[in-house]
Amino acid sequence: MKLALIAAQSENRVIGNGPDIPWKVKGEQALFKKVTMGGALIMGRKTFESIGRPLPDRETIIVTRNPEYTAENCHTADSMEVALELAEGLDRPTFVAGGGELYALALPFADTLHLTTIHTLAEGDVYFPELPDNFKLVSETGYKSNIDYTYRVYERRC
Ligand SMILES: NC(=O)c1ccc[n+]([C@@H]2O[C@H](COP(=O)([O-])OP(=O)(O)OC[C@H]3O[C@@H](n4cnc5c(N)ncnc54)[C@H](OP(=O)(O)O)[C@@H]3O)[C@@H](O)[C@H]2O)c1
Repeated sequence: MKLALIAAQSENRVIGNGPDIPWKVKGEQALFKKVTMGGALIMGRKTFESIGRPLPDRETIIVTRNPEYTAENCHTADSMEVALELAEGLDRPTFVAGGGELYALALPFADTLHLTTIHTLAEGDVYFPELPDNFKLVSETGYKSNIDYTYRVYERRC
């Protein structure tokens, strides 16, 4: 199974501040929706709770250490490995959709990174991991908005 990570980071690699994403950028969420539509989203319990519901037309797999955790119309997994097995069974394009802990856990398994850089310096306490050298840039698209942003796709080198 192929695994992708999808994230938006500021120029200083911030992805979150407490439970929140510290910017509002027109168009950026539509890009997330377009890329992930029809897929399976693996996310940490904190990210799930900050969204508050499963996103439509996608399967949601919540990673939590709490064996009693349940959420309506979602799957739960007690490790990244279990989440990946669950996703394999769902047979859909699979994306890790955050947050910081989950990106760090998933990066060693990732084939593709969909990484949007919001061209601002944001204040926050949750970061995207440093990009390892073994990923190569395969596409780059710039967008003008209330804050400009650049969407880049990286693939793992063979
Ligand atoms: N900018 C973006 O693209 C983006 C995308 C998504 C989220 N975010 C932001 O990221 C922040 C949340 O990230 P976060 O790092 O605080 O939390 P997170 O990664 O969303 O979730 C952390 C939780 O995942 C579970 N977990 C972590 N490691 C685990 C493991 N090895 N095995 C089983 N469960 C494990 C634990 O849940 P339990 O405590 O239940 O055990 C842990 O508390 C928020 O600010 C959110 O807005 C940003």
